[in-house]
Amino acid sequence: MGAEMDAFLGLEQQDPVIGLDGQRGERRRTYLDSAATTLMSRWVYTQVTHYLETSCANSHTHAHRAGRATTVAIEGARDAVGRLVHYDPGADLVLFTGNGATGALNYLARALFPPELRRCLKTADPKKTAVDAQAIVGRATAARLAELARRPLVVTTVMEHHSNLLPWIEAVGRHHCRFVETRPDGQLDLADLQRILAREGDQVRVVAVAGVSNVTGVRNPIHAIAALAHAVGAEIVVDAAQMAAHAPIHLHVADPEQSLDYVALSGHKMYAPGSRGALVGRLAHTVGTACVGDVGGGMVDSVSLDDYVPKDDITAREEAGTPNIPGSIAMGLAAELLQNTGFEAIEAHEAELVADTLSRLGAIPGVRLFGPAWSEHRRAGVVTFNVDGVHHGLTAAFLNDAYAVALRNECFCAHPYVKRLLGITDAQEHRYLAEMQHGERRNVPGMVRASFGLYSTQADVDALVAGVTELAREKERVLASYEAHVSGEFTRRGVGAALDLPPLFTGR
Ligand code: ALA
Repeated sequence: MGAEMDAFLGLEQQDPVIGLDGQRGERRRTYLDSAATTLMSRWVYTQVTHYLETSCANSHTHAHRAGRATTVAIEGARDAVGRLVHYDPGADLVLFTGNGATGALNYLARALFPPELRRCLKTADPKKTAVDAQAIVGRATAARLAELARRPLVVTTVMEHHSNLLPWIEAVGRHHCRFVETRPDGQLDLADLQRILAREGDQVRVVAVAGVSNVTGVRNPIHAIAALAHAVGAEIVVDAAQMAAHAPIHLHVADPEQSLDYVALSGHKMYAPGSRGALVGRLAHTVGTACVGDVGGGMVDSVSLDDYVPKDDITAREEAGTPNIPGSIAMGLAAELLQNTGFEAIEAHEAELVADTLSRLGAIPGVRLFGPAWSEHRRAGVVTFNVDGVHHGLTAAFLNDAYAVALRNECFCAHPYVKRLLGITDAQEHRYLAEMQHGERRNVPGMVRASFGLYSTQADVDALVAGVTELAREKERVLASYEAHVSGEFTRRGVGAALDLPPLFTGR
């Protein structure tokens, strides 16, 4: 594919570099951190700017032209996000949330496990949950909560981003969560999921699984997992933060048993930075008439000092306050961009880059790759690695400083998965966790991740491979050139943070 240089913001950035020999210069930035945040499409940027210039207003104002245009734009964005995941506009809702898929998954966890039930589940004896639930809650909600309490379990996986782990642990308590293990190559152990569901399926409310891993790019068989979840009467939510920009998503497929119930998305991982999140699915059925989200402006029909009447319309009711309007519009436009580009082309482009990166990095002596072999599993958009004897933080720092290659290191908000991929024992984990309590992070394990987007090119892979080749060959010189800080970061001796960009805010 190889986007035009000006098709995305930031592709033409020049960064200062300093070679191992001390030679200073400049290089075009090679952005390989798309799994964290994608660069913004210039088309999306231009359209958002056009909106801001012509119609910037509040979506709750209907008296003037700009206000009405704002409401129309948000509803258009909602539909575009829904279409990206092939929603059924008659049955599904698209709810915009704060802070990406994290916001969406937290919202869903709150909707599925209301606060009254949460309190109960987190303290209850798991064997007596339903009884305890009825004892704790008032009579009015007891019937609904008792039904929920009969299914107090959440099944998620050790592969998840913390966004698809912590909301569930917070919702029902650690003892009501079941975690599907991964295989040694990093793929999900479906047999483990089947074992869990065979044993306790009748108590499982929801199976929460990533569509694509943000650590290895492993794609999970979400429709097969949906069938397993539905067979025991559970629902399925797919954390598609890492999937939406890389693979097609079909909320509904021909076999309803294999369809998905909910999908969570992140705008900043699909070319619309600003971190709007979205939750798509049969929310009317899930949320009912209760207000799950914030209360405040825009979500009520009437308010007195004694009471308020929330709106029936769920998206109006559950998006209280003035929403992140540019973020919602940008996310909708990005969804259109992806649909117009087409996933066949996107997947072919990424497959070429990932396969090439895996084979070239894998050929460098001392490089260890993580995740399944390409011949076994065509992962999406991500390659993770380490260089033997070199701290992951030093690898990232050297590639940035000497090659202007921007990538991310450490655990990518997926600690349990990274722990397994690295083969870290509990004893090792306890040691570095204890050190962290004293501010020492140098021994925190991790890996280095290169992640791709629509704009990534073979030249980007060349820059990465050149940098890693020099690092592996000149390991001792690199180690001697850098200072390790207790924060786990590395700076070039004699240079420090001098290569950093000047601050946006100067305090003047
Ligand atoms: N947790 C995000 C990542 O995968 C930011 O890098």
